[in-house]
Amino acid sequence: MSTEQVRAPQRPTVSRTQPEGVVTETPASPAVLQADDLHVYYGEFLAVKDVDLDVPPHEIVAMIGPSGCGKSTVLRCLNRMNDLIEGCRVTGAVRYHGIDLYQPAVNPVEVRRRIGMVFQKPNPFPKSIYENIVFGPRISGMPKAGFEELVETSLRKAALWDEVKDRLKSSALGLSGGQQQRLCIARAIASNPDVLLMDEPCSALDPIATGRIEDLMHELKADYTIVIVTHNMQQAARVSDKTAFFTVEVNPDSDRRTGVLVEYDDTEKIFSAPADQRTENYVTGRFG
Ligand SMILES: Nc1ncnc2c1ncn2[C@@H]1O[C@H](COP(=O)(O)OP(=O)(O)O)[C@@H](O)[C@H]1O
Ligand SMILES: [Mg+2]
Repeated sequence: MSTEQVRAPQRPTVSRTQPEGVVTETPASPAVLQADDLHVYYGEFLAVKDVDLDVPPHEIVAMIGPSGCGKSTVLRCLNRMNDLIEGCRVTGAVRYHGIDLYQPAVNPVEVRRRIGMVFQKPNPFPKSIYENIVFGPRISGMPKAGFEELVETSLRKAALWDEVKDRLKSSALGLSGGQQQRLCIARAIASNPDVLLMDEPCSALDPIATGRIEDLMHELKADYTIVIVTHNMQQAARVSDKTAFFTVEVNPDSDRRTGVLVEYDDTEKIFSAPADQRTENYVTGRFG
């Protein structure tokens, strides 16, 4: 499959416009992302197992659970970021609009363009605000003529334009932490993704900056599908439509613990009437 073929069909139809020659093993599903029997190893160590998860379009899915249960690991599987970690091996499937992202012919760079990622610590490049936004598009050969408009629309979508429009050529490193994180969101948006993955995007931010990112996430839902890892249960309850609760299980044959997806459901249900006792213990603060 060529780069061109990792292409998201127009929403909301899913597999009908799938590229020729791409065979999916499952019938069309409206899910944007689907993890199917996902297991992830670091070397011999099974870090997380048995993950089945459907991410519907234009929803926010939160992944919660105690430290080490595999939230970041699973998140990184969703855009093949784990490829960059030596020894990391994935079994099962991750489908993006029905296309298995782990087929050998899929181009991981194109995958990461369509499925953008925002990290825990804001990581703008040591360049101007403007250059941060056009960095990816420049590499992928976008004509310069479109840059100005791209910078403005990306910054507007990330709710940062009004604060920085008069200093686009200033260093991104001069921005506050919250502004830097919104710049990283704008930078991801500039590559025209349809999914945003966020790994604890507010954990380095103060409550006001956190509130701004949470408000922004609600706005971004209109255009994007979002998966967020958070250690903050209140945040999951505030921002997400669906919540996946992971925990760790002790291995019978080693002292290392393997993460497992316990329950995945509407956020309201997870927090008010979870099906699994382990979920209940966690969300009521009795564990974790
Ligand atoms: N690069 C790595 N190499 C080896 N083990 C790792 C690596 N990253 C994470 N792990 C292990 O995988 C498990 C899940 O980690 P992680 O996905 O970071 O959990 P979480 O994000 O839920 O805290 C943990 O046991 C962790 O020690
Ligand atoms: Mg993590």
